[in-house]
Amino acid sequence: MLFDKKDIQLVSNAIMNMLHEEEIEIVNRLHDALSEKESDKITELYELLVYDVEDHFSTEEAMMQESGFYAAEIHKAEHDTMRKKIKVLGESWERNKNPREIQDFLEGEFKHWMVLHVARWDAETAMHLGDTM
Ligand SMILES: [Fe+2]
Ligand SMILES: [Fe+2]
Repeated sequence: MLFDKKDIQLVSNAIMNMLHEEEIEIVNRLHDALSEKESDKITELYELLVYDVEDHFSTEEAMMQESGFYAAEIHKAEHDTMRKKIKVLGESWERNKNPREIQDFLEGEFKHWMVLHVARWDAETAMHLGDTM
């Protein structure tokens, strides 16, 4: 297990909290498969993660657009950077099938990013949205 539920702070929007909870669950399952070096399962869960991350980011972006959040562009730019990293890493997995590479990314950069991104950008966006959406 990589994330404990408590690692990611709750924000003041129920949809966002649900998206985060789902993502943590998938990342934890992927992390388990990586530890076990189960290639097929890793491929399957990585694809699921790509799908889930897109759902997470694009839902937040749509809510920001609709509500006219003042820093929507900056928040989206952070998503775009992470989208690219996940895409490149997925391509590398297809070529090299090296679980260590994904594991290092999840344990280091991804975990760190997720905690900080939610605390900084999602928390502020959620405050702007409230539970009105
Ligand atoms: Fe988020
Ligand atoms: Fe976000």
